[in-house]
Amino acid sequence: MKPKTPNESAIIMTELVLPNDTNVHGNLMGGRLMYWMDIAAALAAGKHCNAPVVTASVDNISFENPIKLGNVVHIEARLSRAFNTSMEVHLNVWGEDHTQQYKYKSNEAYYTFVALDPNRRPRPVPPLIAETEAEKALFDGALRRRQLRLILGGKMNPQDAGELRALFLKS
Ligand SMILES: CC(C)(COP(=O)(O)OP(=O)(O)OC[C@H]1O[C@@H](n2cnc3c(N)ncnc32)[C@H](O)[C@@H]1OP(=O)(O)O)[C@@H](O)C(=O)NCCC(=O)NCCS
Repeated sequence: MKPKTPNESAIIMTELVLPNDTNVHGNLMGGRLMYWMDIAAALAAGKHCNAPVVTASVDNISFENPIKLGNVVHIEARLSRAFNTSMEVHLNVWGEDHTQQYKYKSNEAYYTFVALDPNRRPRPVPPLIAETEAEKALFDGALRRRQLRLILGGKMNPQDAGELRALFLKS
């Protein structure tokens, strides 16, 4: 399979926060934002592997700044690493107030997707080539994040998580 760069599958989604999207505080509901993020990330993963994908896991999401009613939401989804059948997608979210000409970071997250074959079984995906320094840092960190989420999901023995253990053990 031909390797691809993050740029080849990057997705930018733009939404407007309408009254139906808000909570009692007049801000965008977290659940609505996670829904949009899931779609943006799935589009990036599907574009990378040219196959149907399912969400396998979502890492912790913390909301740095609320996005207000009437503001614009920008969601950028880029692959940070492709493994065998799974892909990690890094998301960045900003809010924008057009009247005040002000853009602010809202949150960041990692979503993992698995590509499926016609029998709905996991199928291999093309490798990802990290080009820039920022892409390389995300690519390297993806191995540790994958080990952590597989341990927490009961799918990996902590003894096998070499890169993650190295973070905590002095050489
Ligand atoms: C995700 C899913 C396809 C994995 O199937 P599985 O039978 O466990 O497959 P495997 O154990 O062979 O794992 C396949 C890949 O999924 C990854 N994976 C499995 N569980 C994972 C988890 N909790 N977090 C991240 N990746 C995970 C594995 O690491 C593997 O990736 P790799 O091939 O790149 O190493 C399956 O659990 C599924 O269909 N889940 C429901 C998905 C869904 O409906 N999502 C949307 C609604 S919330």
